[in-house]
Amino acid sequence: MTSLEDTARALVAEGKGILAADESDGTIKKRFDSIGAESTEGNRRAYRELLFATDGAEDYISGVILFDETIRQSAEDGTPFPKLLESKGIIPGIKVDKGAKPLALSEDETITEGLDGLRDRLNEYRELGARFAKWRATYSIAADKPSEYCVWTNAHALARYAALCQEAGLVPIVEPEVLQDGTHTLEESSKATGRVLQAVYTELHDQRLDYRGTLLKPNMVLSGYDATDRAGVQEVAEATLECFYKHVPAAVPGIVFLSGGQSDEDATAHLNAMNALGPHPWELSFSYGRALQAPALKAWGGKPENVEAAQRAYYHRAKMNGAARTGMYAPEMETAGVA
Ligand code: 13P
Repeated sequence: MTSLEDTARALVAEGKGILAADESDGTIKKRFDSIGAESTEGNRRAYRELLFATDGAEDYISGVILFDETIRQSAEDGTPFPKLLESKGIIPGIKVDKGAKPLALSEDETITEGLDGLRDRLNEYRELGARFAKWRATYSIAADKPSEYCVWTNAHALARYAALCQEAGLVPIVEPEVLQDGTHTLEESSKATGRVLQAVYTELHDQRLDYRGTLLKPNMVLSGYDATDRAGVQEVAEATLECFYKHVPAAVPGIVFLSGGQSDEDATAHLNAMNALGPHPWELSFSYGRALQAPALKAWGGKPENVEAAQRAYYHRAKMNGAARTGMYAPEMETAGVA
């Protein structure tokens, strides 16, 4: 087993998953606006420290994805965040894309940028303690979307990023996110997700990736958030599995889903239902941002006196998702034993 494979497998260790805490400046400002907190460097640092220092979270959290600012910040006592995480056995990772930008000559589609200078940035991040990286591409579902143009240009960029990561000794998390906004059906979501995955694995293969040292971070197959008659938990689990069985090679150690705007409890229930239908060729885990952080962010509200309440909320969600890793989650656990 290569060290890349070791890291990838450690990130999807039994009962554990990843915290995505890599919100860009714009996104974290939106999150802070929602709780009436100001997005200053100090507040962002304090909020991230609260999450990273939560006692016991390491029982359910294998890795944390950091943002460029965050990987350079330290805890109040001066310990750099990557060191703080490592001391708890949590693997530090880093978002390296520069965001989804308008795709030239397309109708409102996006291409993710950030390849220029990436080799040097990866080497610097590795020095700073990162062991894995993330790059997110986004696609919308509509009558003529995602276009083949958008699907293949993003797949090509994802593979170029992933190859540079493996060269630098970092595990690439490959994140093609088919956005689930809109009124589409479950079948339409499955079709779009399947097309995207097919292109991604074609490009990863052509660009010589060793799948064993990669992780996939996809959307789940859902009915659109504004669709009438939305699919239930079991249907979502079955449709998602069917799509991934068709398109994701068994050599990939793990699929770490994003939450993508689902409620925190829906994201947990869906993951749980998929694992209850296992075993599968790959580990099925989580790499949630909002679905792990939403209750903690709300409990914190930007106030130092709420840090403990926020840590309890974060710990609880981590524990619920840890249970969903083995299909052992039940909604009754949401209220049982909450301090
Ligand atoms: P969400 O779980 O909030 O979708 O965030 C995950 C992520 O990292 C998006 O890139």
